[in-house]
Amino acid sequence: MIQPILETAVTAVWLMLPAYIPNNAAVIFGGGRRIDAGKEWGGRRILGDGKTWRGSVGGFVSGLVVALVLNLVSASGVPEFSIGAAVTLPLGAVLGDIGASFVKRRLGRERGESFPLLDQLDFVAGAWGLTAVFDTDWFLRLFTAEIIIAVLIITPLLHLTVNVVGYKIGVKNEPW
Ligand code: CTP
Ligand code: MG
Repeated sequence: MIQPILETAVTAVWLMLPAYIPNNAAVIFGGGRRIDAGKEWGGRRILGDGKTWRGSVGGFVSGLVVALVLNLVSASGVPEFSIGAAVTLPLGAVLGDIGASFVKRRLGRERGESFPLLDQLDFVAGAWGLTAVFDTDWFLRLFTAEIIIAVLIITPLLHLTVNVVGYKIGVKNEPW
């Protein structure tokens, strides 16, 4: 009973690592030129100060590198990332997070204000969406219903844990 659940959970995290890394790496790489260049739309920032070029590119490259490294160390039985997925998982994660900032600003949420579930799942939606479009076969083969359910349960918990730790050690401004 426990073993298959554990296996599903480990596979889910493994498959999502290239999408989990970018937003955490962005916190470290972030700074410098803002994507929206400080511009407003409808009286509010387009994206806000929290979305920078360095953070986005650094986050994407980190996720890509993680996918390639996981492929190198993958033993038998562990899924491999296609080249397409190695790109679309981190790229989609970064774009999903940027898209969520756009939505949050339109809804009047300031930079850094929490938005439960959107904050925890925006990058998952981006990573899945982009991967499903660009490497449909790989996506459907590996993201079974079980894995998808596991990701939806594990991700918010993992995201919250990592961000609370990031906040406590002083690299993140808010614990979400
Ligand atoms: N970051 C970045 N570029 C990105 C994403 C994140 O530079 N594309 C950096 C920023 O320094 C940001 C930090 O990582 O402040 C934390 O990211 P996040 O929580 O996503 O941004 P917030 O500052 O909370 O802004 P928002 O409310 O728009 O999500
Ligand atoms: Mg935030």
